[in-house]
Amino acid sequence: MDAKENEMIKVMFVCLGNICRSPMAEFMLTDAVKKARIADKFIIASAGTSDEEEGNGVHYGTVRKLRDEGIPTYLHFATPLSRWDYDKYDYFIGMDDNNVKNMKRLFSGDDEGKVYKLLDFTPTPRNIADPWYTGNFDDTFDDIKYGIEYFLKYIKEVIK
Ligand code: 4NP
Repeated sequence: MDAKENEMIKVMFVCLGNICRSPMAEFMLTDAVKKARIADKFIIASAGTSDEEEGNGVHYGTVRKLRDEGIPTYLHFATPLSRWDYDKYDYFIGMDDNNVKNMKRLFSGDDEGKVYKLLDFTPTPRNIADPWYTGNFDDTFDDIKYGIEYFLKYIKEVIK
């Protein structure tokens, strides 16, 4: 890791399958930091706690919703989170309590306090429903948008 990379804010979004919620959050934060002209300060990725969808592309519901909202997507293949990722990122941001529980199991705890749930950054912490089960990508998008807005407020204090 070079000096510049060391100074960057490294964010890993995490859900179960890495095809619906966490890639949606990855694309949305990537777009938000570009618009805020702070993209050069970030490394943004996503992964799943399960290997069920490994190698698969992003769910069409996520791609379609982002396209409707004018948020760019790029090619992404579902990747399982690895315990070796723990040292490579500063923030592991899950979507629900199960993601947090599974991350802490994988990392054998959370010694450095890096594991969060996205809506914990907001005034109304709660889980983000899984559209794989609900079929509702609109609500998921609204929740992730809300979470990212508050995460960025938090980060802007950190990088000030
Ligand atoms: P995600 O949704 O965790 O938001 O990517 C899911 C995608 C796939 C499965 C579960 C959740 N699955 O069981 O294959």
